[in-house]
Amino acid sequence: MPQRPYIVGNWKMHGTRAMLSEARTIDRAAQRHMKVEVAIAPPYTLIHPVHREAEQIAVGAQDCHDQESGAYTGDISAAMIADAGGKFVILGHSERRDAHSEKDAKICAKADAALDAGLRIILCCGESEAVRDAGRAISHVKKQLNASLPDNIENAAERLTVAYEPIWAIGTGKTAGLDDIAEMHAEIRKLLVDRFGDETGPDIRILYGGSVKPENAGEILGLPEVGGALVGGASLTADSFMGIAMAAGDAVEA
Ligand code: PGA
Repeated sequence: MPQRPYIVGNWKMHGTRAMLSEARTIDRAAQRHMKVEVAIAPPYTLIHPVHREAEQIAVGAQDCHDQESGAYTGDISAAMIADAGGKFVILGHSERRDAHSEKDAKICAKADAALDAGLRIILCCGESEAVRDAGRAISHVKKQLNASLPDNIENAAERLTVAYEPIWAIGTGKTAGLDDIAEMHAEIRKLLVDRFGDETGPDIRILYGGSVKPENAGEILGLPEVGGALVGGASLTADSFMGIAMAAGDAVEA
């Protein structure tokens, strides 16, 4: 059964308690747009406060450690995120892969830990501009996904989301061409069907991310196999974020 479009805000390292009013506005607006599933991943410090405010939207984290607890200064476990009210975690974002040297095997271990703690996961993948220019975007993304996806995920259609984010489109104002997005999403779909079977594979949502904004959301979200968006910059104000959510709602109705 096709799921509702999933629009997830990745606040990155933005937001103090002053942003709680924005989260509240997003939550109230999401209550009026129930055909779209809306979620935000604020910085860790805001997970619990947003959870307390939110009646409709889910709150999640932008990363977690692969161990439950221990001597890991500055890290946070999936269980701690769940304890704070988090329902999901974004894993393998290119900014983590780049600035924290995260490799596929580590991301896979984090995914296992998050699932064990009862969180849903959003697993990110995407190619650099050099890889795309070399004509290796599809093989690169498939390799990344194959190596970072855990083997067995119970109820994967519900608990796993994949986010395709070409690195050169993140925060740059450039979006991938519609044909390229459609081609990549179709390839990811094939991989998910191979990995999770004909029953589950078609129902796992694949988000697009990279400079999504209200003006381009409709055409991107109307593409086959695009099940939602992972939104950075444009998720920081309720106006632009909910503009994207509304475009998603319109795209599924069209
Ligand atoms: P952007 O970020 O929307 O600001 O390009 C997307 C992301 O990094 O998830």
